[in-house]
Amino acid sequence: AAVVEHTFVVNQVRMRHLCNDTLVTVVNGQFPGTAVEATEGDTVVVHLVNQSPYGITIHWHGVKQRLTCWADGAGMITQCPIQPNTTFTYRFDVTGQEGTLWWHSHVSALRATLHGIIVIRPRSGAYPFPKPDVEVPVIIGEWWQRDLVKVDQNFSIGGSFEDNPAAIAINGKLGDLYNCSGVAEDNFVLDVEPGKTYMLRLVNAALFSEYYFKVAGHKLTVVGADANYVRPFTTDVVAVAAGETIDVLMVADARPCRYYMAALANQPPVPDPQIPEFVSRGVVQYKNIPSDAQNCTEKSPLMPAMPDQHDTITTFYFHGNLTGLQPGGNPLLPQVRDRVDERLFLTLGKGSMCTNNKTSCKRGGNPESFEVAYINNVSFHLPETTAVLQARYYGGKLNNNGVPVQDLPSRPPRAFNFTDPVLIPVVPGGKMEELEPTRKATMTRRFAHNATVEVVFQSTATMQSDSNPMHLHGHDFFVLAQGHGNYDAARDVRSYNLVDPPMKNTVQVPRLGWAAIRFVADNPGAWFLHCHFEFHMAMGMAAVFEVDNGPTLETTLPPPPSDLPKCTR
Ligand code: C2O
Repeated sequence: AAVVEHTFVVNQVRMRHLCNDTLVTVVNGQFPGTAVEATEGDTVVVHLVNQSPYGITIHWHGVKQRLTCWADGAGMITQCPIQPNTTFTYRFDVTGQEGTLWWHSHVSALRATLHGIIVIRPRSGAYPFPKPDVEVPVIIGEWWQRDLVKVDQNFSIGGSFEDNPAAIAINGKLGDLYNCSGVAEDNFVLDVEPGKTYMLRLVNAALFSEYYFKVAGHKLTVVGADANYVRPFTTDVVAVAAGETIDVLMVADARPCRYYMAALANQPPVPDPQIPEFVSRGVVQYKNIPSDAQNCTEKSPLMPAMPDQHDTITTFYFHGNLTGLQPGGNPLLPQVRDRVDERLFLTLGKGSMCTNNKTSCKRGGNPESFEVAYINNVSFHLPETTAVLQARYYGGKLNNNGVPVQDLPSRPPRAFNFTDPVLIPVVPGGKMEELEPTRKATMTRRFAHNATVEVVFQSTATMQSDSNPMHLHGHDFFVLAQGHGNYDAARDVRSYNLVDPPMKNTVQVPRLGWAAIRFVADNPGAWFLHCHFEFHMAMGMAAVFEVDNGPTLETTLPPPPSDLPKCTR
């Protein structure tokens, strides 16, 4: 195994798009930032040099960080931010994982421009499918012209209607649907040779929205998701949830020509008359296009027919089609099949609170109220003076300015019809069922080492049109089932796939539906669980899963590196 070493210099640069110079915070002057390419079993060492004016952390999304929770980079969960003009070195192994992951900053909303791909290739060099000729990262991101720190502050109190990205980007290129003064933005261009196989490593790095991705005239064969192999299936449309990665193979078997690839936001942020839909396109361009080819001109590549931007069925079936494929079978599957030690039923919703935090505020009408998001009616409060893991290991206490640290309840405070909009206090003046007031707390839930944990995520009607891409740090989980409407244990347990469930780090919980996962809590530390829509997370849809040390030194989290940043306030 080798050491893959990088220096990430975080600073602010001006980038010009849409006729505007925008000051953006990036790694090594690039958007997206530097790719980390490793082989399974390697050690990754990244020296982060922070020359930006912000406290920064980098999270290695999907890297299991086995016994290296300190390197997870979740701001105020595993570490305090790396302060301006200081450095910190992240060091971790990529063992037992192959495929596509990504890194991003994990403080405020800066990850919109601070992100990049992680590629982990098999040690043997062999994939469980024919080796592609060329591998291509396809990072779907957003181009923001707003101050992302301010945007994050707005998100945390429910958001503002101006807080929208200006455009969608594929590998940093906005694409020719966007222009200013009639000059189109550049497309990402993939040059292909007839007959060759291309592996597209799709990453959804956007703050908002799931994406539909298509390439005109080409079929895509899905072979991986969240750095786990899946049983290959062929489709013409891929759905990538926020935070998720999907690997597909594309054979260049169409007529030598030019074709658009397109990424369309599904469930876009806020309806904006200026931007009826968020879509970006790139070009797949064949070599040696005959000069007399019809309809092959620069101006008119074939555009794929995209799903409707409000289509939630296509993603439901796309994700339902994922099944696990692990050569030799997954060693954790027998345990999750046979034994469940902890069952959590987590409702995902939005409510409102008063600015004085004292009493509940009815939605609407009250100028002192702001919108929050919650899990089981508790809105997560990010610690302010010590990271959760640091508090635990230094035997310290979380000082949350009076906001309690609380155990995440296994169930919501009361049962109701979760997905019936009439029964939920959404519509002012409509028929409502009163909920207990939403509270703020730093919610953690502690699991014994090696416990099998089942979590059912239940979306509620308070989410309105949003789905919830729920992401867990430090573990991959099996996705056993998903469904529409209310979860009913007696009925829905029978639909669990305990034969070949896909392993993921992010599960797309359907709008007005549910998803059931199980994992083995075998990695000691404090692991963030949150919705990967940035505004949902900032509004409090998050919790921390703490996992105890195991009985031996090999299962015990070593102490933190001595240079781990301390909090300054
Ligand atoms: Cu990519 Cu805590 O997330």
